[in-house]
Amino acid sequence: MDKNLPIIALDMQEQEDVFKMLRAFEGEKLNLKVGMELFFSHGSALIKELKAAGHDIFLDLKLHDIPTTVERAMEVLTLLEVDMLTIHASGGVEMMKSARRGLEKSAQKTGKTPLLVAVTQLTSTTISQLRDEQKLAVTMKESVTHYAELAVKAGISGVVCSPQEVRTLKTYSNNKLITIAPGIRLNKENSHDQKRIATPFEAGEVGSDFIVVGRPITQSDNPVAVYNEIRQQWEAGMAAFKERK
Ligand code: C5P
Repeated sequence: MDKNLPIIALDMQEQEDVFKMLRAFEGEKLNLKVGMELFFSHGSALIKELKAAGHDIFLDLKLHDIPTTVERAMEVLTLLEVDMLTIHASGGVEMMKSARRGLEKSAQKTGKTPLLVAVTQLTSTTISQLRDEQKLAVTMKESVTHYAELAVKAGISGVVCSPQEVRTLKTYSNNKLITIAPGIRLNKENSHDQKRIATPFEAGEVGSDFIVVGRPITQSDNPVAVYNEIRQQWEAGMAAFKERK
């Protein structure tokens, strides 16, 4: 996956809507994220089609189940030869190790090893949800760092987190952890259900490795223009980060 390109979250239920949007990007190689709604409705056939069109695929199904189930599911998903896959760090170290085992088993067959990343705290989660619903008496950064620690223990090299936690995780891991940051908004007033958000520039400036953007692009009247604006801001943010280092 090209780190310079934002990952577009194809959060649509109908593949016709996906193809309609992609027609506007004719000829461009994209980083595309297929999530639950699209995968549950169109499955592996759609993944194959998007890959055949030359795009890189992040299959974001956020697996969280007993270790054996996750291992076997990961084995099957890896056969799709996608570029990135997700699990929930809250599933625990044993589950994450099992996920890796499943992935590695199939990667030996396909010759392609997708990047396995662990979701820490969803970017839609607020501090009051952390306290009142999850019953965790810690800060958001502490919780995210704890999940990242578990991921590292399980041999996972990347995590999904908010751009607001990227700096902490980079410091904690000596810059080793790969960070994938959703919750990206050009205009912070329109955050939808996302709570821990940042602009593409801010995400780049703190050293995020990848950004994921859905609705700002997919629900726009001009997805290509919004994508290009996000891409420019993201590149400027990454340049500012490199300069500071
Ligand atoms: O539309 P929006 O830009 O908010 O979409 C963000 C995407 O990133 C969604 O597909 C969502 O599932 C995903 N995501 C997230 N927070 C995480 C992990 C994934 O928003 N922690």
